[in-house]
Amino acid sequence: MPTSIRTRLLVSLLIVAVLSAGVLSWYFLSELESYGLRKLEERLGSEAKLAAVLAETNGMRDSDALSEALSGLELPGNSWLRIVDGNGIVIADSAGRALGQDFSGREEIAEALRDEYGADSRITGTGRLALFVAAPIRGADGRIIGAASSAANTFSIMTLVSDYRIRLTGLVLLFAAFTLIVAELLARWLSSPLRRLEAGAVAFAGGDHSARVRPSGSRETRSVAQAFNQMADEVQRALDELKAEERRKSQFVSDVSHELRSPLTAIRGMAETLADGDVPPADAQRFLGTIVREADRLARLADDLLTLQRIDGATGELPIRRVDPLEVSQRAAGAMEHLAEGRGVELRVTGTAPAVLGDPDRLQQVVANLLDNALRVMNQGGTITVALAHEGDWATISIMDEGPGIAEEDLARIFDRFYRAEPSRERAKGGAGLGLAIVRAIIERHAGRIEVANRPEGGTVFTVYLPALRG
Ligand SMILES: Nc1ncnc2c1ncn2[C@@H]1O[C@H](COP(=O)(O)OP(=O)(O)OP(=O)(O)O)[C@@H](O)[C@H]1O
Ligand SMILES: [Mg+2]
Repeated sequence: MPTSIRTRLLVSLLIVAVLSAGVLSWYFLSELESYGLRKLEERLGSEAKLAAVLAETNGMRDSDALSEALSGLELPGNSWLRIVDGNGIVIADSAGRALGQDFSGREEIAEALRDEYGADSRITGTGRLALFVAAPIRGADGRIIGAASSAANTFSIMTLVSDYRIRLTGLVLLFAAFTLIVAELLARWLSSPLRRLEAGAVAFAGGDHSARVRPSGSRETRSVAQAFNQMADEVQRALDELKAEERRKSQFVSDVSHELRSPLTAIRGMAETLADGDVPPADAQRFLGTIVREADRLARLADDLLTLQRIDGATGELPIRRVDPLEVSQRAAGAMEHLAEGRGVELRVTGTAPAVLGDPDRLQQVVANLLDNALRVMNQGGTITVALAHEGDWATISIMDEGPGIAEEDLARIFDRFYRAEPSRERAKGGAGLGLAIVRAIIERHAGRIEVANRPEGGTVFTVYLPALRG
């Protein structure tokens, strides 16, 4: 199981605390101990020299007087002095225990008799560690005639140190407990922004896409929180787009079915009536005419949908060529000439525009669709003008009619699929509301744009902007 930040912090801080406290106390205790022993040795050295001087003055003759003199020095309770002669035989002892014993084998005595610095530490008969320092005693001629030895139990230093050791152990434990508390607080403080981050991420992963994290804590956790929020925004935006796309698609499908239903219902109704027989020939003729018209409408609808799908689906490249807007406009107007004449409408193409890059058939369809719309709103004669121009980087084609114009609230929506400003009337005239959607899709594929406005003098103007070809 992966351990939490809290546990890791706790364990590492505890290890550091106990280790450092332990090592430090061990170091200082051993320093203290060796310092105490050094001081004791120095003291013993001075005492030994003092005793040696006493013995020299005494001339090593009167053992009793020497013993008395040593006792007179009033040594601390745990130390004692001895004088040995040149052979290492004890001739005076402040403790009075060892008189007459042969000490020549003792390290410090042997060394002092050889005129070396004599020192040693041993466990004494009482089971304690004692320190011994000896100094040579010289006769009048300067030869070594004996040695003075000073000794003391190290008891007091040792008990002091071990006493400290116990106290320090307690202190280390206390220190560890304190560290635990500090580590716990620290862990909480450090990990709380992370826990909030975790909660946010878990909520987001669980489907709450509005979950965000307030950036807090250290610089690192802040930037993680900010990155998380950015990511969440991004994901939410993508999801929203997907949903919108989904909605558009299902709206499109229901619009298409709706559009298909009315011609199909009409065809079915009339076909049924005809099948029943008993229909006057004039009516039968009329019904057949309607059936053909509705079937045409269906075919046109299918064509339009296919066109839109091809342009919008962006599958396959447009055949790109150098296109002259005047030529395209004239061809589109030419195709409409017959229809316009029938309504007493004059079609005019004026001006010129720079060449553009694109698909000439598609661009002709743009002008044709716009002309088709203009013709539909012009029943009482009048003029439709296709004006070409050069505006900055753009080649423009404006289609102006003298119809009723378009209501302000419809202006923004007429490019939507299946949108008709006056649905009932327009459908009766056979429009599906796809013409302008196709126009906009084609223009966008050509990196252009289209604008629509009502003309002050009445009627509508649609202006197509296409990137002009240089040179
Ligand atoms: N020149 C215009 N004057 C007034 N209204 C217009 C003009 N052009 C378009 N409209 C309005 O915009 C709507 C959408 O036009 P669009 O060309 O997309 O569809 P449609 O002409 O009704 O049908 P379709 O073009 O598919 O046969 C039209 O129904 C009409 O109400
Ligand atoms: Mg149209």
